[in-house]
Amino acid sequence: MAKHILAIDQGTTSTRSIVFDARAQAVATAQSEFAQHYPQSGWVEHDPVDIWRDTLATMKEAIAKAHLQPADIAAIGITNQRETAVLWDRETGEAVHRAIVWQDRRGAPLCARLKEEGHEPLVRRKTGLLLDPYFSASKLAWLFDEVEGLRARAEAGELAFGTIDCFLLWRLTGGKVHATDATNASRTLLFDIHAQDWDDELLGLFGVPRAILPEVRDNAGVFGETVPDLLGAAIPVAGMAGDQQAAVVGQACFDPGSAKSTYGTGCFLLLNTGEEAITSDHRLLTTVAYRLNCRPTYALEGSIFVAGAAVKWLRDGLGLITHASQTDDMATRTEDNGGVYMVPAFVGLGAPHWDPDARGLITGLTLGTTAAHVARAALEAVAYQTHDLAEAMVEDGAAKLETLRVDGGMAANDWLCQFLADLLDLPVERPAMLETTALGAALLAGIGIGLWDGPEAVAKLDRKLDRFEPHASAGRRASLEGWRRALRQALA
Ligand code: G3P
Repeated sequence: MAKHILAIDQGTTSTRSIVFDARAQAVATAQSEFAQHYPQSGWVEHDPVDIWRDTLATMKEAIAKAHLQPADIAAIGITNQRETAVLWDRETGEAVHRAIVWQDRRGAPLCARLKEEGHEPLVRRKTGLLLDPYFSASKLAWLFDEVEGLRARAEAGELAFGTIDCFLLWRLTGGKVHATDATNASRTLLFDIHAQDWDDELLGLFGVPRAILPEVRDNAGVFGETVPDLLGAAIPVAGMAGDQQAAVVGQACFDPGSAKSTYGTGCFLLLNTGEEAITSDHRLLTTVAYRLNCRPTYALEGSIFVAGAAVKWLRDGLGLITHASQTDDMATRTEDNGGVYMVPAFVGLGAPHWDPDARGLITGLTLGTTAAHVARAALEAVAYQTHDLAEAMVEDGAAKLETLRVDGGMAANDWLCQFLADLLDLPVERPAMLETTALGAALLAGIGIGLWDGPEAVAKLDRKLDRFEPHASAGRRASLEGWRRALRQALA
């Protein structure tokens, strides 16, 4: 019997496929970076053609690298960059516009207007989110307001909307299944996380026709089967979740009070709050962590828009490094930060500030500043923001974290993990397998086909961890003060 699981991780800058065996160990990976489009300041788009092409190509490559046949794959799990909105023609399956990416700020004027009109409390109560262009609804509203003919076609039932999970599922099943999962739905601003259903009042607020919406399902369960022609076998797609929620599963954060922080393009700290959907007083988000057997588990989320993206900018924008891993060495070589702070507000600031107009800055430059100080400032900024989120969670009534589980590409940086442990004053745990997002999607798919019974079985799987213990850090308070000063300037 086929026992391998293939996870698709469609991220912001790359698409990955990873094959896992029945002990949830990764056996083969294929990855492809794709083009980012920036048509205007604050706009970010992806071409769904690229996303589909790379998904298919990496799936095939990973299966071949694992020396398997498609029929050896028992199930597929999908995880994805969240909020990114795709609108496509139901007849042809072709997108009618490039995908509008989660980082895109073009919905800011609409969000500001709705806020001014006093709609935020309602939005917050129903969705657990805030009125911010980060989420899908204002991106869809922009498409309907700005692209001629789309609204009429949507109302006539000709168009389908989905986040990337839903678009890939549609393509993999040859247009047979138009469905998403509760975690991805919970990021649209159109989904009532308590009723677990799309909400007419919210649809009205953003002028989104109900006819375009997918069905919302649990995270584990058979969504549909791949068209045999695509890969050479009909394989069930049995798990789907937004990437941050998939990482919650991959890190086995199943107990209320457990938390993980994923350092990819952005950084997202999620704290499991169990069956209780806690409303934050500090502008954190309330979101669905996962939904199994129709029962949602909730999380408090702090969303930082730029983490690895700052290191990518050091490489691609400034040419300061040629590989991200160099920042580890550079930061280790510095005695201190030399008074240099970076606020990486390249696309505004997320939690807890939610300022779409803030822009990045570097402060404290002197003639003694070196490239290493700037690299260190980029890493420190990620840690300061994590600290601010953890603090906001405690102020919201959560118990102080006992450990922080980290993952994502940037967590490979030992210096960053140690700095985090010192700054947060708690142990930081890092799994040997950093691709917890893909692992989470594979585990959900395994649960979906009955390979594992559920979270309890998944939590028992063997996991190797590195642990970073906090050291007393004399400079901690001073460096936090320096960060806060720089932050105030970015927000001004
Ligand atoms: O909400 C956006 C998030 O899902 C993007 O994740 O991994 O591309 O930083 P990542």
